Amino acid sequence: MPKPYFNDNNKIKEILMVNHAGEFGAQRIYQGQLAFTKNHNDISTIQHMLEQELEHLNYFENEIKNGQSKPTFLLPLWSVLGYVLGALSAIAGTKTSMLVTESVEEVIVNHYQEQIEYLENSGNQSQLLIKIKQFKQEEAEHIEIAIKNDSKNAELYSALSKMVKTMCNMAIYLSKRL
Ligand SMILES: [Fe+2]
Ligand SMILES: [Fe+2]
Repeated sequence: MPKPYFNDNNKIKEILMVNHAGEFGAQRIYQGQLAFTKNHNDISTIQHMLEQELEHLNYFENEIKNGQSKPTFLLPLWSVLGYVLGALSAIAGTKTSMLVTESVEEVIVNHYQEQIEYLENSGNQSQLLIKIKQFKQEEAEHIEIAIKNDSKNAELYSALSKMVKTMCNMAIYLSKRL
């Protein structure tokens, strides 16, 4: 009998669903930033991160298409909220858009770390684990890029960062369930 792809089907379905939602939201944030940034120097930086998000999204989209899970029905909401968050932060300026990147990616990195631990503990050496490790590494690079671009010196850093992280955690909570 072939080894089952995954040990805990429901948990894996949830992981794919929430990661798909997260990567979908992430690329919408960067699209919003790209469309509204006033600083020409930011374009290639944001473009680079956007391209990586599209690769991440593409992976989870294919897993869903292969029948491993389904998309959250909240995608249209994440589409609008992500884009608006990106747009507003870019209008506020480079530091604020980098603050959004730093905060969002911090939540995602922690979230991916939890999944990595789960997959490792369940003895799962699947392609999914490899992919999540790779994506987590790239999200961590996005944090470094944001900090290099002065995210920590954005106005209202601590309030805005808390707000963005809370929004992301709520989106994660809902995207696992709906
Ligand atoms: Fe990503
Ligand atoms: Fe990212």
